[in-house]
Amino acid sequence: MKSLISPSLMCADFLKLGDELKKLEDAGIEYLHIDIMDGEFVPNYTLGIDFIKKVKTATKIPMDVHMMVKNPENKLDWIPFGEGDYVSVHYEACTHLQRALSMIRARGGKPMLALNPGTPLSVIEEVLPDIDAILVMTVNPGFAGQKLIPSTLNKIKRLRKYLDDNGYGHIEIECDGNVSFENAKKMREAGANIFVAGTSSIYASTGSFEDNIKKLREAIQ
Ligand code: DX5
Ligand code: ZN
Repeated sequence: MKSLISPSLMCADFLKLGDELKKLEDAGIEYLHIDIMDGEFVPNYTLGIDFIKKVKTATKIPMDVHMMVKNPENKLDWIPFGEGDYVSVHYEACTHLQRALSMIRARGGKPMLALNPGTPLSVIEEVLPDIDAILVMTVNPGFAGQKLIPSTLNKIKRLRKYLDDNGYGHIEIECDGNVSFENAKKMREAGANIFVAGTSSIYASTGSFEDNIKKLREAIQ
């Protein structure tokens, strides 16, 4: 499966966002990871609806909206996603998980199921026909700059095998949290193919933006 990069825009320099988006386009970046937090499911607020609208007018790169929001099925109508955009909802946050996933599909979006590090893989079974990807959180969601939870590498490995062995080889695996150049390589080896790039890689304080993108691309080849 092709390796894809999804830069986490909550880590971007908002004062230079237009310029950074242009650089991401020039580098052939595949998705833009947009974190929506409600201060309840996770203890933080980040990006919102007007931000998405502005990004959509500025670039054609598809979005990868990560909803860290309780009962997202009641809020999906607010989100301006479209054809080809990924939208992820958390298993732990949904009262009506299957409804949330099918609402995303009905609008032409690509449904992704997100799992916290403490959530077992066994919960995915009933919704496998309803999803295009699974987001394995490799840190507890809410903040940038955290350390990898090591057991999540094996979780990715077991998930890839389970999907391949059960006729779901087309379902992609995204990883989010401390995707450093070093960890990205391990995540790739474990079977992930979409990499959320934050302060651990392309938005690191060391190295230029362009060089860091190249370095991440190399790590996941
Ligand atoms: C959470 C966000 C961030 C993002 C930041 O959902 O998407 O955690 O991964 O990247 P790091 O962990 O590299 O700062
Ligand atoms: Zn995220």
